Amino acid sequence: MTYEDFPTDEQTVVTAGLPYANGDLHIGHLRSYVNADAFTRGLRKLGQDAIYVSGSDMHGTPIAVNAAEEGVSPEEFALRHHEQYEQTFPKFNVDFDQYGHTHDETNTELTKEFVRKWEENGHVHEKEINVAYDPEADQWLPDRYVEGTCPYCGEHARGDECDEGCQRHLEPGEIEDPVSTLTGNPAEYRVRDHKFLRLSDVQEHLQGFINRLEGTSNAQNQPREWIEGELEDFCITRDMDWGIDYPGEGSEDLVLYVWVDAPIEYVSTTKQYSERTGDFDWEPVWKDGDGHIVHIIGRDIIQHHTVYWPAMLEAADYAEPRAVCATGFVNIDGKGLSTSKNRAIWAEEYLDEGVHPDLLRYYMATASGFERDVNFSWDRFAERVNSELADVVGNFVYRALLFATRNFDGTPDADVSADVETEIADAMDDYEDALNDYDLKSAGERAVALARYGNEYIQRNEPWKLDDEEAAPVIRDCVQLVKAVAVLLQPFVPEKADEIWAQIEEDNSVADATIGDCLQAPPAAFGEPEELFTKVEDERVEELDEKLQEKIEAASSDEEESEDVSEASETELEPLADERVSFEDFQALDLRVGEIEAAEGIEGADDLARLEVDIGHEVRQIVAGIKQLHDLDELPGKRVVIVANLEKAELFGVESNGMILAAGEDADLLTTHEDSEPGTKIK
Ligand code: 2FM
Ligand code: ZN
Repeated sequence: MTYEDFPTDEQTVVTAGLPYANGDLHIGHLRSYVNADAFTRGLRKLGQDAIYVSGSDMHGTPIAVNAAEEGVSPEEFALRHHEQYEQTFPKFNVDFDQYGHTHDETNTELTKEFVRKWEENGHVHEKEINVAYDPEADQWLPDRYVEGTCPYCGEHARGDECDEGCQRHLEPGEIEDPVSTLTGNPAEYRVRDHKFLRLSDVQEHLQGFINRLEGTSNAQNQPREWIEGELEDFCITRDMDWGIDYPGEGSEDLVLYVWVDAPIEYVSTTKQYSERTGDFDWEPVWKDGDGHIVHIIGRDIIQHHTVYWPAMLEAADYAEPRAVCATGFVNIDGKGLSTSKNRAIWAEEYLDEGVHPDLLRYYMATASGFERDVNFSWDRFAERVNSELADVVGNFVYRALLFATRNFDGTPDADVSADVETEIADAMDDYEDALNDYDLKSAGERAVALARYGNEYIQRNEPWKLDDEEAAPVIRDCVQLVKAVAVLLQPFVPEKADEIWAQIEEDNSVADATIGDCLQAPPAAFGEPEELFTKVEDERVEELDEKLQEKIEAASSDEEESEDVSEASETELEPLADERVSFEDFQALDLRVGEIEAAEGIEGADDLARLEVDIGHEVRQIVAGIKQLHDLDELPGKRVVIVANLEKAELFGVESNGMILAAGEDADLLTTHEDSEPGTKIK
């Protein structure tokens, strides 16, 4: 193991991927920001000196395109969204120590310094390349200004990203059959000089880095094939006005690619924090490796954080990240979150419903492990909130404190029993281990498990049947358990933990408490408690669900109206094939019965799901375009028909080893009608 466990004596920077200042925040965004916030708070609970920084991603073509559509400057457009994010995050108790933006002076200057350093170190070179150009608009077409076909997987792709296929980053000039998004005309490729960072210079470093990297296994494994293969140069310039100007002479018409200045903002915000507070030294962490850097991101940007970013850092003589944690996707009712289809819960919409933000935080941090998808439905949300936060935590805290205050005016004068002390110490150890494993879900659930233990303990000891002298040690134990639960739960539900803290009349804030405080005596006197959590009742769930379905339907009927004409022709049957295949050709297909064992969406791919299918001999990973068409939670257990000997393919960085057969536009899954076992050959 390369790194010492947390807590260490060195300072730690936790970052969350920068949101593009380009639209409203929804629960898909909140997942990363809440997780990173809870993780930082968790580290502090271990006694780790840690800060949490991020900022708005202001540059890039999507912002330039949307600003132009609105008829405002990109700066005005992006700043408006940036200011909106600054207001929204705190409402979810997402408490950045510093939140900046990529267009500010610190980041502009630091980005230029990085580039100068790369040049000084000999890692930048100029190369003549093909760049898409729209003759009618008389404009170069960087990134989102051009669409076409991915040269790697053949899917439709955007200029710099194969967003519907293999999800690779695409370099300028790579996309095939380029079409201008400005005019819809085919684009020309014209020759142009651009600046490149030579990644092969740091390939050896990257190969070592990936073996040292901590975090989630998707981030540790997915980049290996890139890092081990031939690393192509990274084009760091673009032909546009909006962005940070390339420093140096002769390149006045070039700005830096958005993915250059965006991650540098992680350093810039740390620097701003250091300068503002004076109690954090950004340079040892970022430049000397005397500290720890943890990036929490969505899994669609693993390549940027495990290949390009560490290469940029190394090429400028900066330190490397200790960990990259890539979170899964948020689905809504089993289908992919889609902002265009309004199948999303918007941050402000959630708040307008008056549901406490800490409830969403708890759900987002514990509904699934970091890497896996979270399937949001109001029903599931209510189920977890009610059964874990209300029935277990709320119930225990209220019962224990009510008894304590009514019979003892606070904490009884007694010692904590050895059993309870051991239980709390075990919870502290498990919590520390979970955070060191980047396993936020287990840390949160351990806190709830301690409250569950408290409920069982009070039930078993029945203090209400005892006289005060006999009840005192039991209630003493319970108040200690309440205090420990507040400390351990604070990263997940900071406001609610503060309420518990206030109820036991602790001084200071629970935010400043560390796990060591779990075993420190609570105050001797406190007043009557209040209920902590209100359950989300069935009628409320129905109401929230109805609202969600209505808005999704409204969006889809708008879409259908505009698609009516094409729908009519789509219902016609496709003509039968003219050509016949031989029986031998048919037999060459190895068709098998399979049973789906697991299904989850693939981040960034609107339609794709990753399935694990038992085909008798083995369990296969298969990628299928069914995410929008099936409730993924309903799929495990279903029998399907698969082509077992289809060539392997890679989609969105996920290997597909076979194909599921399905009928029509709705992807009606083929199956057999008797109980044919997985692996049965179809002939
Ligand atoms: O993909 C995105 O949403 C980017 N705005 C993330 C940038 S993260 C970082 F590297 F800056
Ligand atoms: Zn592709």
